Amino acid sequence: MLQNRILAFLLLAFTQLLVEIPGTGAKVPALIVFGDSTVDSGNNNQISTVLKSNFQPYGRDFFDGKATGRFSNGRIAPDFISEGLGLKNAVPAYLDPSYDIKDFATGVCFASAGTGLDNATSDVLSVMPLWKEVEYYKEYQTKLRSYLGEEKANEVIRESLYLISIGTNDFLENYYLLPRKLRKYSVDEYQNFLIGLAGEFLTEIYRLGARKMSFSGLSPFGCLPLERTTQIFYGSKCIEEYNVAARDFNTKMADKVFKFNKELSGLQLVFSNPYDLVSDIIHRPEAFGFNNVRSACCGTGYYEMSYLCDKMNPFTCTDASTYVFWDSFHPTEKTNRIVASHVLKYDLARFQ
Ligand SMILES: *[C@@H]1O[C@H](CO)[C@@H](O)[C@H](O)[C@H]1NC(C)=O
Repeated sequence: MLQNRILAFLLLAFTQLLVEIPGTGAKVPALIVFGDSTVDSGNNNQISTVLKSNFQPYGRDFFDGKATGRFSNGRIAPDFISEGLGLKNAVPAYLDPSYDIKDFATGVCFASAGTGLDNATSDVLSVMPLWKEVEYYKEYQTKLRSYLGEEKANEVIRESLYLISIGTNDFLENYYLLPRKLRKYSVDEYQNFLIGLAGEFLTEIYRLGARKMSFSGLSPFGCLPLERTTQIFYGSKCIEEYNVAARDFNTKMADKVFKFNKELSGLQLVFSNPYDLVSDIIHRPEAFGFNNVRSACCGTGYYEMSYLCDKMNPFTCTDASTYVFWDSFHPTEKTNRIVASHVLKYDLARFQ
């Protein structure tokens, strides 16, 4: 009897030893990512949508020049943030069959390019709605519990940093694409609707055990090359109306974050807002080592992204590091690195 108990104890100790997460020295055990193409590391490869980027020249500056489905020439912000936190140097996509729970235990991405807070946004390009990302996250929790055991898994769930970057598509792919007459909401009302949905999402992952979170503010999306191209007869200026919508959303979201931290006990929610930095990069690109900001590296740089940005396109630039934008909608690796360093230093310091 006693022997059995000793044996059971040894077995338990041994299994725990086996599944011990490699000593990363990081303060957070994993980086868990939700959102859109700003943070998707390849989930869209596995779903039927036209919004993909798992082909060259995407990824040409990534490890082994691999096109992973990241919408950039190289790594995206969460990869740099993960590295900066002392975790791995790239965050794997949950739907990528070449990874499993061993990999996901220290970082996982549920994001889907083209999605938004509003269900109607993800419908536009048939990508994963945010609620579906949460469904996958629940499945992940189950897998994590059977891999690490209940107690250790709960610790990973509680102590991990949750990175959320979403909202641009709700405006650009949904709200502003609707003819004015068909819009149910004013911009102000639509922002409030989105903030409400963001609140529901954050409450849901809090309820599921998440405590350390960073919600990203929106960038000046009126300055994306694709949006500027629509202003080509007006000197390709940024669309100020869109930038105002982004700034107002950010102000409201910052307020929501402040309230949430008071209401939900144990929550450490940060509003990370790179708006001013990105705006600075766009208005003073030379100060950051860039020569090109109006057009992107891929193709002519004015409208190409996804399948239009492919290796048959003869116009693609040779050195993406001189460009702020990689395709007409997404930053280059260099921009991602600058933004991630800023966020790590100013917004995520307490998690390091
Ligand atoms: C979005 O869709 C999901 C699944 O159908 C549903 O549960 C949720 O209530 C919807 N959200 C809104 C705001 O309509």
